[in-house]
Amino acid sequence: MCGIVGIIGKKQVTSEILNSLKKLEYRGYDSAGIATLNNGEINEVKCEGRVDVLEKNLLKLDTSGNIGIGHVRWATHGAPSNVNAHPHSSNEVSVVHNGIIENSTLLKKDLIKKGYNFKSQTDTEVIVYLVSEYLKKYKIKDAVMKMLSNLQGSYALGMIFKDYPNLIIGARRGSPLAVGYGPGENYLGSDSYALKSMTNKISYLNDGEFCILNNDQVEFFDEQGSKINKKILTLSSDEKNYDKGDYKHFMAKEIDEQPNVINNCVNEYIDKINNDINIFNFPWNEKDIRNITLIGCGTAYHSCLVAKYWLEELTDFEISVDIASEFRYRKNKFKNETLYIFLSQSGETADTFAALDLCKKNNMKTCAIVNVIESSIAREANFVLPTHCGPEIGVASTKAFLGQMLVLYILTLKLSFLTKNIEQKLYKEKIKDLKNLHNKVKNTLLLENKINSVANVFSDAKGCMFLGRGTSFPIALEGALKLKELSYIHAEGYPAGEMKHGPLALIEDGMPVIVLAPRDNYYKKTISNMQEVIARGAKVLLITNKSEDDVFSENIWETIEVETANNDLLPFLLTIPLQKLAYFSALKKGYDIDKPRNLAKSVTVE
Ligand code: F6R
Repeated sequence: MCGIVGIIGKKQVTSEILNSLKKLEYRGYDSAGIATLNNGEINEVKCEGRVDVLEKNLLKLDTSGNIGIGHVRWATHGAPSNVNAHPHSSNEVSVVHNGIIENSTLLKKDLIKKGYNFKSQTDTEVIVYLVSEYLKKYKIKDAVMKMLSNLQGSYALGMIFKDYPNLIIGARRGSPLAVGYGPGENYLGSDSYALKSMTNKISYLNDGEFCILNNDQVEFFDEQGSKINKKILTLSSDEKNYDKGDYKHFMAKEIDEQPNVINNCVNEYIDKINNDINIFNFPWNEKDIRNITLIGCGTAYHSCLVAKYWLEELTDFEISVDIASEFRYRKNKFKNETLYIFLSQSGETADTFAALDLCKKNNMKTCAIVNVIESSIAREANFVLPTHCGPEIGVASTKAFLGQMLVLYILTLKLSFLTKNIEQKLYKEKIKDLKNLHNKVKNTLLLENKINSVANVFSDAKGCMFLGRGTSFPIALEGALKLKELSYIHAEGYPAGEMKHGPLALIEDGMPVIVLAPRDNYYKKTISNMQEVIARGAKVLLITNKSEDDVFSENIWETIEVETANNDLLPFLLTIPLQKLAYFSALKKGYDIDKPRNLAKSVTVE
């Protein structure tokens, strides 16, 4: 998704902006650009495509200056192209923007009447001319405030001004924005990651706030223009996570990191001496909770679906699961006894943030399970449970999914114990099993060669299906999502028992179908459903867990056996071959695995 960088200092800033834009590449984007201010002139260079192309273009053009802004764009209004790339500039101002201006069409009509000529199809260009218009009558701060008061929708903005060579202005509503502090220079960034190579001292803007950066100070203001104070946070250093090491792709590295991710997370939440779960400062009494609603998008939503099965099995709470973009616009019945749990790797997903905001406005209990603890969702929720996965750079979520499921499972066990739904002995046994989960994941990763060899069939397929029951159903959804986003193959996840109610019609000779049938309570039923698809010509890859009992079914094309574990933990193990399958299928097709087409890592627009 779009990314912003701004730097104001005493030395040349172009190459530093370029480096930061490279850091933002992981978010997924289609064009890039830079504007600097030099001798009272705004110099703008932009291009469709990658930051490498921008770098080459910069060699040919002069973009010197000690103040500048940069952007990577993920198209919303207007196709990816040179002209639609940011920054957008007039003679007076240059602007980079993340988000969507919803009333841009109306504003544009007005500005055209006033004589402005629009060059791009973007919503952002209205910001440029609006502020240029106000600058005719007002001083800089008032002009910016007037401009902001016209905007509907979401934005994070970075702006430089021809007549104000000593400042950058940033503003936020709905899209995240951070300020970084350096020696004799200050920075603006759409996330702290963009700024990490320059500083570990960061402040975050809240909705409605704006800031003015000089090279030696930063001032923050609320919506009314009154000065406000900001906390300066010190970020931890985890540089090694931003490096691919010996791996060809971040995704491959992140899949293989999962045993460590599980180990770290278990160490954070499990008191090994007392064999108990540490969830300190849980701000509510469990007796005041009767319902739990889990909310997320994409992969995070799938982790919520898995947790519904655990929570229903191990607690008495009423559980519902929602897709954030649906929840936020539905007529919800907010009840005091509901706990709302928000799942998000990035902690910046606009729909999830909006759903959280809605719950906050209705005074609900809110808990966030996030990977990025400095994120907007983490800052907004009443209570935060971090997943401790380390940065996830590959656009397709892998280790964060396991981390989300793990924290949800740990929370389930704790709530089950607190509400006396589980006996102490079983609770302790389940914790013991958790402590060994990383080894089981490690051994399951050893199936790599076998998965690589079956991946050919999937990379050549027109379409395929993933089937499962119980917790294996959401894992099937996740497997299908991974395959479609990386290999661009149409894939559907389905509850195995639902096939006969329609989708069986899709099955034709040789169609690859992945059946997830671990030896849990659904095993026999799923095997029967598998036979139904085999009878109709499907080429079935069965994924089950190791067992002494043979699988009683004929004509299975291939079988993969993951490690065995107590039923609760099977979703973690079944996920591994599906991640690898998607990876190898995309690798065979030669696709851009870490940055699949049309996708973004941090989805900061609706
Ligand atoms: C899929 C994927 C997305 C994200 C979704 C939510 O591999 O990564 O479906 O899970 O965009 O993102 P977060 O978790 O950052 O809120």
